[in-house]
Amino acid sequence: QKLELELEAIEKGGYDHFMLKEIFEQPRSIADSMRGRVNSEEGTLQLGGLSDYMDKLAEAKRIIIVGCGTSWHAGLVAEYVFEELTRIPVEVEYASEFRYRNPIINEDDFVIAISQSGETADTLAAIQLAKSKGATIFGVCNVVGSSIARETHAGAYTHAGPEIGVASTKAFTAQVTVLTQMAIAIAHKRGSITEELYRQLLLDLSAIPQKVGQVLKAADRIKEIAYIFTYARNFIYLGRGLNFPVALEGALKLKEISYIHAEGYPAAEMKHGPIALIDEDMPVVFIATKDSSYEKIVSNIQEVKARKGRVIAIVTEGDELIPNMVDFVIEVPETHDILIPLLSSIPLQLLSYYVAVMRGRNVDQPRNLAKSVTVE
Ligand code: G6P
Repeated sequence: QKLELELEAIEKGGYDHFMLKEIFEQPRSIADSMRGRVNSEEGTLQLGGLSDYMDKLAEAKRIIIVGCGTSWHAGLVAEYVFEELTRIPVEVEYASEFRYRNPIINEDDFVIAISQSGETADTLAAIQLAKSKGATIFGVCNVVGSSIARETHAGAYTHAGPEIGVASTKAFTAQVTVLTQMAIAIAHKRGSITEELYRQLLLDLSAIPQKVGQVLKAADRIKEIAYIFTYARNFIYLGRGLNFPVALEGALKLKEISYIHAEGYPAAEMKHGPIALIDEDMPVVFIATKDSSYEKIVSNIQEVKARKGRVIAIVTEGDELIPNMVDFVIEVPETHDILIPLLSSIPLQLLSYYVAVMRGRNVDQPRNLAKSVTVE
């Protein structure tokens, strides 16, 4: 017993929980997901597993992405990135909904299945269905040799390393990194982005691990913020564009491990419902980095403040406007718009972690949840 405890302590590498260790591993796991693929100095990007399919992919008429839970959120981020860079229409589906509704699948469709474990029953069944209809299936899995990885025609592993905490953190950012690399590679092949943008994206992507390291330095400050909200009963997370899936993922992290009710919404939808919930007891997390929807989100923040909501805002470093409007700010470094989720999701992981710890929850093994769901 004692030996087991000591072994576990060693595995946690000095961190209190696996989840915290995995959050802090992200500069390395994101770098690992680009290793041997991105070479920003030479301006090259090679995804070995997909090379045989690149010509076909460049001609794709439609891409369907399937996944569950956090992997589905990575798919939503990818939808924005793929459509922006490749101009190929993308549909993102919960694997469970997709498989049970007689979906329209053509032989020239490409399906990307996202799964950390590679064992999720609904995702596996969804790709088997799509495969039987003649579609080409790619996997974005973390576990090498897993069922989904074996069932797909080709794929790209995330190489995030083993993830022990039930709530996914480093696997999510690795998924987003790999999907972004896929989108950049396809866009380059199709000629839908300029050579200049291609080079710039590779440079910006290579700088992400170091920028994630910078975000992690805010851990103590996020802990202080978490302390203030330990006894909150509800949370709302709002974001626009690429930060909308980040809002969903932030809310999911909080409910998974702290058991606080949390909802993620596109910020513009607030006026169609969630605004009714806002009063002085409602914490609202805005993911409000500087991007094309910045001004819109500033007015959403004003709407919440006018109703006395308590606002925590994730902003871009050097933002001088939002910090004067809200209760708490957490800064993330600047990057290219399409890479923002890789930075803006990190403070939300830490926020949920610290709230859960302060509530005395079993962070690594939350009640009722499993790391991989192999039942339907
Ligand atoms: C479970 C886990 C989640 C995960 C989801 C999908 O619900 O608790 O963290 O996002 O399954 O798992 P997958 O392994 O397919 O990514």
